[in-house]
This record gives sequence, C-alpha cells and structure tokens, in this order.
Amino acid sequence: MSLIIRRADASDGPFLAEILVAAAFWRPDGPNGSVAEVLSQPELAHYITGWQRPDDLGVIALDEQQPIGAAWVRLLSESDRGYGFVDAATPELSMGVVRAWRGRGIGFRLLDALIDAAREQGLTALSLSVEPDNYARHLYERVGFRKVDEVGGSLTMLLRLHESIDAG
Ligand SMILES: CC(C)(COP(=O)(O)OP(=O)(O)OC[C@H]1O[C@@H](n2cnc3c(N)ncnc32)[C@H](O)[C@@H]1OP(=O)(O)O)[C@@H](O)C(=O)NCCC(=O)NCCS
Repeated sequence: MSLIIRRADASDGPFLAEILVAAAFWRPDGPNGSVAEVLSQPELAHYITGWQRPDDLGVIALDEQQPIGAAWVRLLSESDRGYGFVDAATPELSMGVVRAWRGRGIGFRLLDALIDAAREQGLTALSLSVEPDNYARHLYERVGFRKVDEVGGSLTMLLRLHESIDAG
C-alpha cells in the first residue's frame, strides 16, 4: 500500500458523494444506497452539495492515485441542522473508507490529518453524529471526540481541538 493523504479540492465532489453513501448506509448487513438516493434527501445531501464551499475542509486518502477514503467537515446552520449539529460555528464531520480498504488504519490516518488541518485553519471544535453500534465510534473516541448529546438513538460527539489527545 502506498498511501498518500492530501487536502480535498473542488474536483473531489463526486468521490465525497460516494463516501457519503457509505457513511449513510454503513451497516454491512443493512440496505445499500446510491448517490442519486442520497442527493435526493436534503438531510443527507446538505453534507456535500455545492462542494467545495469556502469553509469546507477535507482530506482524501489515495492509493496509486485512486481515492480510497475521505474525511471532511462542513458548517451547517441553525435552520439547516445536520444530525450532529452543535452550533453554527462548529463544522460537522463525515467520513468513510472504500470497503475493500477498511480495517488497515486508513480511517485513523484520515481523521488525524483532518484534525491537523482543522487546527491549522483555526477551528476550535468539530462535531459528528454516530450510531452507538458503529465501530467508527471507537475511532472517534480514540482521537478525543466525546459524547455531548443523544438524538434519536444516535450520539452527538464533540472534539474540542485544544483538548484533543494525541493517540500517536
Ligand atoms: C468507519 C471507517 C471510516 C473506519 O475506517 P477504517 O480505515 O476501517 O478504520 P481503521 O482501520 O483506522 O480502524 C479504526 C478502528 O475501527 C476498528 N475496525 C476497523 N474495521 C472494523 C470492523 N470491521 N469491525 C470492528 N472494528 C473495526 C479498528 O480495529 C480500529 O479500532 P481501534 O481504533 O480501537 O484500533 C470505515 O470503516 C468506514 O468507511 N465505514 C463505513 C462508513 C461509516 O460508517 N462512516 C462513519 C459514519 S458516522
């Protein structure tokens, strides 16, 4: 594996949409979705439509120039809240790794790179929503996200960037 992680740019929109499908339909034994389906649902589409907005920040994992994973954050507003909405100044995280590449540390590397980029950008916190039985939750806890709320059975988690632990 020759893994490269780089900042996401405007050309990555279609790949991020694929990853959003993976995140929305994460259960291995659950239903599968399509990009068209996700984009037709405003509560999912708003994580990606119009990529890349000025405040959007993301990272892409590449193997041999092929994108294999992504993590990004986007600011949403009080009137257009995401599942993990905390406030209008805290962008919300979405992430995923192409199925064949999971379980090899790529998710951790992406998250680590995104957190570094967010700090560089001067962001003070990131939020997300995760279902309690998604193993992504342990990844989030490992980098310092903590549960701040529970909404509709999902956990809202917050990472305060100045308190983040470095898991090495
Ligand atoms: C969640 C996800 C991004 C993690 O990416 P990854 O590259 O597989 O993650 P890593 O290899 O860095 O492993 C992260 C942790 O998950 C664990 N893990 C990975 N695959 C696993 C599996 N199939 N079952 C259980 N645990 C698993 C790893 O052991 C590791 O745990 P640790 O931090 O305690 O060591 C990826 O699995 C994915 O795309 N899932 C579907 C999309 C999704 O659920 N997105 C998040 C929505 S909130």
